[in-house]
Amino acid sequence: AMIALRQLLDHAAEHGYGVPAFNVNNMEQIHAIMQAAAACDAPVILQASAGARKYAGEPFLRRMVQAAVEQYPQLPVCLHQDHGASPAVCAQALRSGFTSVMMDGSLLADQKTPASYDYNVDVTRRTVDMAHAVGVSVEGELGCLGSLESGQAGEEDGVGASGTLSHEQLLTDPAQARAFVEATGVDALAIAIGTSHGAYKFSRPPTGETLAMQRIADIHAALPNTHLVMHGSSSVPQQWLAVIREFGGQIRETYGVPVEEIQRGIRLGVRKINIDTDIRLAMTGAMRQLMAQKPEEFDPRAFFKAATAAAQQLCRERFEAFGCAAQA
Ligand code: G3H
Ligand code: 13P
Ligand code: NA
Ligand code: ZN
Repeated sequence: AMIALRQLLDHAAEHGYGVPAFNVNNMEQIHAIMQAAAACDAPVILQASAGARKYAGEPFLRRMVQAAVEQYPQLPVCLHQDHGASPAVCAQALRSGFTSVMMDGSLLADQKTPASYDYNVDVTRRTVDMAHAVGVSVEGELGCLGSLESGQAGEEDGVGASGTLSHEQLLTDPAQARAFVEATGVDALAIAIGTSHGAYKFSRPPTGETLAMQRIADIHAALPNTHLVMHGSSSVPQQWLAVIREFGGQIRETYGVPVEEIQRGIRLGVRKINIDTDIRLAMTGAMRQLMAQKPEEFDPRAFFKAATAAAQQLCRERFEAFGCAAQA
């Protein structure tokens, strides 16, 4: 059944686990996530970006998620709008039956430049007023996602800031986070601790300098009743990078957020962990491999099936590592 993010994450907080929020754009990704969740009896967050709605089309996205809920009646499913750029985008999500929306007011809607604190409070509070009136949860964001190595938002990222961000902008301030939650009433808060979107997060494995995990403890202490969200949380598995390269793909040396760091984040208070890139890498790797190994194959179902299996395995590993198994 459908469930709001607040209810789903309240349970996670009570039982000390974290929930992966996987981005979805098509049937195969939804299949993979639901199969993995069913196999280990895990609660589900499916999140769709504005780009996902554009790719699939709003009616398809809505009805594919409805189909997932119908096929897996035993699993709680939250449908979340990822990175809503304005209250208007969040209003569209409400009309589409989403049970959670992210109002990302950390950036100005059109310019992709860092927004003022007052702008962020204003758009987020308006979204909370609208969403809470119909029982839908809201995630806000304070601080800009981006690399502490370079000050850049992340390369192939469609939702991040353009230009260089200061060290200050790249780390969420705990006292400001507390004021922000008091002013807006958000259920969940995305925090900036050095992660960024996409495959190119770190040029070498992250350290305490480039991934500021200790911030989570400080923010959690200031905000015990707000669910903390880690964006840019793909681990960028080296095995999948190797497969993609072996079968003709071009991906430079890069590192993601290690699963053990996410597990530490969950112990420090993180409840929602956003993952898109890892599913992209697994599906692309599996398809490249099969195309190379079976050049006579031309039924696209063979490729989609391999991609779904690879994504399912990855999702299952994340559900289990984050403590979701048997929590549905
Ligand atoms: O936060 C960004 C997600 O990876 C969504 O990416 O805008 O390409 O759908 P997208
Ligand atoms: P990744 O690019 O690390 O998968 O992050 C996805 C994300 O944060 C979506 O909001
Ligand atoms: Na989100
Ligand atoms: Zn994100």
